[in-house]
Amino acid sequence: MAEVIAIEGGRPLNGTVRISGAKNATVALIPATVLADGPIDIYGVPEISDVRALATLLRELNCEVIIDGENIKIDPSHMKEIPLTSDAVNKLRASYYFMGALLGKYKRVTIKMPGGCYLGPRPIDLHLKGFEALGAKITYEDDTYYLEADELIGTQIYLDFASVGATINIMLAAVKAKGKTVIENAAKEPEIIDVANLLTKMGAKIRGVGTDTITIEGVEKLSGTFHEIIPDRIEAGTYLIIAAAAGEKVVIQNIIPQHLESLISKLKEMGVHMDVVGDSIVVYGGVKNWKPVEITTQIYPGFATDLQQPLTTLLTQAHGVSHVKETIYIERFKHCEQLNKMGASITLGDATSTINGPTDLVGARVEATDLRCGAALVVAALMAKGVTEITNVYHIDRGYENIDHKLITLGARVSRYEISE
Ligand code: EPZ
Repeated sequence: MAEVIAIEGGRPLNGTVRISGAKNATVALIPATVLADGPIDIYGVPEISDVRALATLLRELNCEVIIDGENIKIDPSHMKEIPLTSDAVNKLRASYYFMGALLGKYKRVTIKMPGGCYLGPRPIDLHLKGFEALGAKITYEDDTYYLEADELIGTQIYLDFASVGATINIMLAAVKAKGKTVIENAAKEPEIIDVANLLTKMGAKIRGVGTDTITIEGVEKLSGTFHEIIPDRIEAGTYLIIAAAAGEKVVIQNIIPQHLESLISKLKEMGVHMDVVGDSIVVYGGVKNWKPVEITTQIYPGFATDLQQPLTTLLTQAHGVSHVKETIYIERFKHCEQLNKMGASITLGDATSTINGPTDLVGARVEATDLRCGAALVVAALMAKGVTEITNVYHIDRGYENIDHKLITLGARVSRYEISE
């Protein structure tokens, strides 16, 4: 048996949806708390399965963890240095942030290779290069990494690619290293700034986050503090696209519009009507003679790779031919085959897709191959004629808090049930 999320398309959406805390900040902030000598309170935590998996790993390290709705209290005061080799490590790729955090705290860490969605090869060579540059010796045996350093000494690290994960992981390892670390060609995503804000409140000395050069002066001690997570710009972008696809008038609340500039400008280029009002965006449905656009994914603040998949669904309704080029994950096109099953007309090239529109979408049984493919299929299901059943719904639940409730509140008809495999 397998669980599906079933959505009946064609129902007009109206009302307000509130965006949750950023998943891609949360999955780094939670491991970062082990660097503190005292309790940390984090507010605005999304209720997604990744948080529960990370809480399991914290408890394995003998941290006290209390999750109360959108608040998580973590007390690492009595934590123990224990190898992270349980199955919980494989539940999410971001487990690898414990590498940087535990190396930074104990100068030693043993951890099983992390899991994560299939988006083509996802190496961590840049993370490891940073740890070695700081003085760690790394061995790898039976799917497990062993990192050990006599001392962590600050140094200059150049990232061959502005990797989000590597930037954060090296920052976690460097905040208690001796001396100054400079990360060059660093990634600039807002989630990185959010992690740096927590570390700074703990007592770390970090400058330049949000630019491509981050400077860290190592400190002896990091203390407990509290933090509120920034809103999830990818969830927000997904709901902007949902509102354009199936909304009459939808208000999306708890947004930092600056984090969505590239998507907002593309939606306006397509002809989507919206107003930015403070920390909300109002999207007006109705006329849908959208223009086709060209999308090339880039590192922040360019067009986010995580949003090209849901936007592809909207582009199936544009009047003309659109193109998407991936420069971040060259294989991130598994949603196209699923959308074609629903009536889309998408062809694939070398790290590119060509979307011919408009095409009528019809409900079908489709597969969420990864988190944002799932999001793309939710957008399609809301527009399609009839009912769409999306399998592997666990992918969607990793990144979208209470998606059923949020969609039903807007007027969608959503249910979940078991089907035989
Ligand atoms: C983060 O992944 C996000 N995940 C991804 O979101 C997001 O798509 C990605 O950044 C890009 O914005 C989290 O924050 C948990 P990268 P990350 O390191 O850190 C290559 C979602 O849907 N690379 O910036 O893994 C890599 O192969 C997820 O929420 C190396 O070659 O992304 C990829 O082609 C999906 N070596 C590119 O860099 C390395 O050591 C971008 O990777 C690391 C990365």
